[in-house]
Amino acid sequence: MLTVVFIVWCYVRDAVGSILGWTTNGNRMIGFSNGVRRLSIKIGQTKPSKMSFGGLHCKARCEIYPRTKDVKRFKVPDDKVRWNVPFPEYSPTTFTTETVLSGPYYADPDICSGKGEITKWNEIDGKVSRVSFEGKYEVVDGLPLNPVGRTGLKHRGCLGRWGPNHAADPIVTRWKRTDDDEIVKGEDGKPVMEFVSIQRRDNGEWAIPGGMVEPGSLVSATIKQEFGEEAMNSLEMSEEEKKEMHDKIEDFLSHGDKVYEGYVDDPRNTDNAWMETTAYHFHDDDGTKVGQFNLHAGDDAMAVQWMVCNSSINLYASHTSFLQQAAKRIDASW
Ligand code: BGC
Repeated sequence: MLTVVFIVWCYVRDAVGSILGWTTNGNRMIGFSNGVRRLSIKIGQTKPSKMSFGGLHCKARCEIYPRTKDVKRFKVPDDKVRWNVPFPEYSPTTFTTETVLSGPYYADPDICSGKGEITKWNEIDGKVSRVSFEGKYEVVDGLPLNPVGRTGLKHRGCLGRWGPNHAADPIVTRWKRTDDDEIVKGEDGKPVMEFVSIQRRDNGEWAIPGGMVEPGSLVSATIKQEFGEEAMNSLEMSEEEKKEMHDKIEDFLSHGDKVYEGYVDDPRNTDNAWMETTAYHFHDDDGTKVGQFNLHAGDDAMAVQWMVCNSSINLYASHTSFLQQAAKRIDASW
């Protein structure tokens, strides 16, 4: 009898959950209201997101590990990336930076040296989401395995968390216009889109002004904060200027569409730690809103600009593919 009641409860819970947007594995869902529809992230999912990565990572196999001169990855050919393909000679380099090992606020304990323990893989662990948008990842010998495959390097590199490290990315776009306010068309006859791009201080590459989602924070809040800090230099503003900036971006950065959530082909990834992001697209169709933004690089960004988007742009990690999704969404030239 109890079993029957339980089965009926599961059906009811799943049916109601799918209408209201709950996940069905008992985890919480967090989000915010944008006045039109609910923008949300599922932090408790164990099924892959419909937007998840799919392909093979390339940047996550770069020869020299970022921010080092000589930490070399073990070479992984394309056909040996997947864990289910045997690769008996695979001998990844072990590497975690001294900074991460020293235990800064954003880092997990060094579970390999017996300092602390993590038991809640694929779950919400206190305020930290150890859930991947790629679905349930394997944990082998106590360490989470990169869901895309081998990277040639094990342990955490410069990433703080074992398993997924969650980020959020605001894609802010407008149409490219002439001095006479005409929308410029690309070779394919479609309107040309520009986006707010920052130049990363760590490697000089151009990127979306995103950042890490702090434990317990919302993607929506991270998006506004990172845009403010990196593209408007809010960290160096007076309280009054901050308020003015907040009034300008608050509404605009609350009306976006999610264009990606999943694994990022990031050069910092390792076999046991990797980047995932949620990217939202905010488009200023008539050019009246983002024009008011006073762009100034700050924090981790050393420059900021409106960059024209098309298939030839070369951005950090897999950011170009997020832009492609955004272009598709508004039928922009690509
Ligand atoms: C960046 C994000 C990026 C993520 C994954 C974060 O450090 O701020 O823009 O999407 O890493 O590469």
